[in-house]
Amino acid sequence: MENQGQLAQYIPELAKIDPDKLGIAFLSNENETFGVGDWQTRFSIQSISKVLSLSLAYNLLGENIWERVGVEPSGNAFNSLVQLETDNGIPRNPFINGGAMVICDMLVSHLKKPKSDFLEYVREISSCKEVNFSVATAKSEELVGFRNKALCNFIKSYGNIKNDPDEVLDFYFHMCSIEMSCLELTKTFRFLAFSNFKTFNGDKVLSLSQAKRLNALMQTCGFYDESGEYSFKVGLPGKSGVGGGIIALHPEKYGIAVWSPKLNQKGNSYKGMKFLELFTTETQLSIF
Ligand code: DON
Repeated sequence: MENQGQLAQYIPELAKIDPDKLGIAFLSNENETFGVGDWQTRFSIQSISKVLSLSLAYNLLGENIWERVGVEPSGNAFNSLVQLETDNGIPRNPFINGGAMVICDMLVSHLKKPKSDFLEYVREISSCKEVNFSVATAKSEELVGFRNKALCNFIKSYGNIKNDPDEVLDFYFHMCSIEMSCLELTKTFRFLAFSNFKTFNGDKVLSLSQAKRLNALMQTCGFYDESGEYSFKVGLPGKSGVGGGIIALHPEKYGIAVWSPKLNQKGNSYKGMKFLELFTTETQLSIF
């Protein structure tokens, strides 16, 4: 398979990654794992983390969260500002950067120690105590994150960011910097893939209805302005990140994670998209 595309050049730390890395991990509903290539190497999960912050906010605050963020695909790039002015600072969905920042703001308001409490939550649902932020990646993005700073401040001007934008951005950059392997990603997403999943403490993360809604959002908005094309070709709820990772789920059947750092024009892993298209076409294991 050709390795077209570009690394995420706008984040200096991500521009250093070996572009030829390729990992794939598969986790079945019977807890069998399979993997190939760099499936146990950690990488920056970036926007995939937005599903995790959303799930925590949904768990803590319930349906109230939808008063401050929409559930419609934006049809625009993940870091676009254009719709926010006519939409009065209410981002179209929680996966575009502005929407994710509003969710981060809710967590900053609600959690006592936002960054460490969030990390603890991710460790709990992934069953992996070593999962961590990359402080170098968070710092690297912060230094060049002028567009994200503009987004956060713009939303603040409409009153839809309650805390200090710098604090919200610090949380957001750290959240995006979380590193996981493909294997760890499949484990982390068991709470959305399998309705019988409980954490080590015996807790369910989301109700069935909430999990249905997050899967629906991944299906319709998880790949930004390529969400329709991803749905058309792959046919699974999923989420991408500019670190080159993609997680995709067949609810009640399996989770699959792919990592290949070169991105297509829309900011989604070039090979990851191709692989998932081939995988669901050859196996006929998509939700449609
Ligand atoms: O805010 C950013 O631009 C990155 N930290 C995350 C963007 C991202 O992963 C978009 N996904 N494809």
